Amino acid sequence: MKRIGIVGAGRMAFARGKAFLDTGEAEIIAVASRNIEHARKLAQKLGAPHAFDDYRRIASLKPDALLVEVPHGVQGEIVKWGIEIAPGILVGAALAVNSKEAEEIERKAEEEGCLIEAGYGSRYSALWEKARSLITSKSLGKPVMVQSLALYPASPSSWYYREKESGGMPLTHMTYCFINPVRWILGPVVEVSALANRILHDEEEFVKEEMCSATLRFKNGALYSAVAGYISPPNFPSLNVKFICTKGGLEILPSTQILKVYRDTGVEELDFSSQTPPLLRQAKTFLEALDGKAVCLNPPSDAKLDVAVSEAIVKAAREHTVVKL
Ligand SMILES: NC(=O)c1ccc[n+]([C@@H]2O[C@H](COP(=O)([O-])OP(=O)(O)OC[C@H]3O[C@@H](n4cnc5c(N)ncnc54)[C@H](OP(=O)(O)O)[C@@H]3O)[C@@H](O)[C@H]2O)c1
Repeated sequence: MKRIGIVGAGRMAFARGKAFLDTGEAEIIAVASRNIEHARKLAQKLGAPHAFDDYRRIASLKPDALLVEVPHGVQGEIVKWGIEIAPGILVGAALAVNSKEAEEIERKAEEEGCLIEAGYGSRYSALWEKARSLITSKSLGKPVMVQSLALYPASPSSWYYREKESGGMPLTHMTYCFINPVRWILGPVVEVSALANRILHDEEEFVKEEMCSATLRFKNGALYSAVAGYISPPNFPSLNVKFICTKGGLEILPSTQILKVYRDTGVEELDFSSQTPPLLRQAKTFLEALDGKAVCLNPPSDAKLDVAVSEAIVKAAREHTVVKL
C-alpha cells in the first residue's frame, strides 16, 4: 500500500485522490491546503488521518508520493520541495508555469531520483489509444490536419482566470485540450502561430488570451488548428477533435467518449464510455512506476514540451509572429 500526501483540496484533488483509493493500492495519509477547513473536509472524504494548512507538515509523515493539485503559478515551489521529501509526485496538469521552471524540475527530479508525472489524462484513455493506433499505423493514410475546439466556462472569480496564478489560458487549458494528446500522436511541433482576443472579462489581472486560435506545424508536415478559450455558450458542443488523413478521418467527442472513424467503406462509431476511467489508469500506472514496474506517459522530458508550445502560442499571439521550436 502506497501512502499518498495531497497538496490542494479542490475539484481535482478529490477526483485524483479518489482515483488513487480506487486502485486499491494506495491510502491518503494527509491533505494540506491554504484553508484548513477545505483540507479537513477533503481529508474526511478520502479517509486521511491528517489535515494541514501548511503543506510542509506532510514531510514528517514520510509519504511514498505526493499529489499536487494547486494553481500552476504556485505549484512550482511545492513540487521543488516535494522532490526532496518524496520518491514521486503526480502534478495536476501542466508540469510547470514556464519552461525555465519545467527544466529546473526535470533536472532536480533526476538528481534526487524522484518520479514526476504531469497529470494529462488523455494518454491513459482507451479512446485516445485507439485514435493513436489508427493514425500511427497509417490505416487512414497520412495525417494532414487536426482541428480541435475546447471551450471551458471558467469562473472569473477562480484562479483559472488570473494570468499569474494559472500561467495563462493556453498553458492551463489548451495543453490539456488537446495539445498534449495530439503531440502524442503526431510527434514534435516545429512551428506555431496564433491570434487571441479578450472580450468577456478584460480586467488587468485576467488572462490575456481569453479565446485563442493557434496553428501548429508538426515535423511530419501535418498542421493542427486549435481553438480554445474560457467562453462557452450554453448548450454549445464545446469539445471535439477531428483528424483529417489522406484516406480517412477521425472525430473524437470527449464528452461522450465516442470515436467516429471515417473510411471509404463508411463510418464506424466506437463507444469508449464503459472503459476504465483515465484518471484511475494513470493513478495505477504512477503507483506501479514508483516500484519500477510501469512507465508513466507524461515524464518531465516530454511534459515540458507542452509548456514550451503554450509559451510559443502566447509569444506568437502577442507579437504577431511565427515561432519556431
Ligand atoms: N486532468 C484534468 O482533467 C484537469 C481538469 C481541470 C484541472 N486540472 C488541473 O488540476 C489542478 C487543480 O485544479 P482544480 O480544478 O482542482 O482547482 P481548484 O478546484 O480551484 O482547487 C485548487 C486548490 O488549490 C488551492 N489554491 C488556490 N489558490 C491558491 C494559491 N494562490 N496558493 C496556494 N493554494 C491555492 C486551493 O486551496 P484552498 O481551497 O485551501 O484555498 C484549492 O485547494 C490544476 O493543475 C489544473 O490545471 C486538471
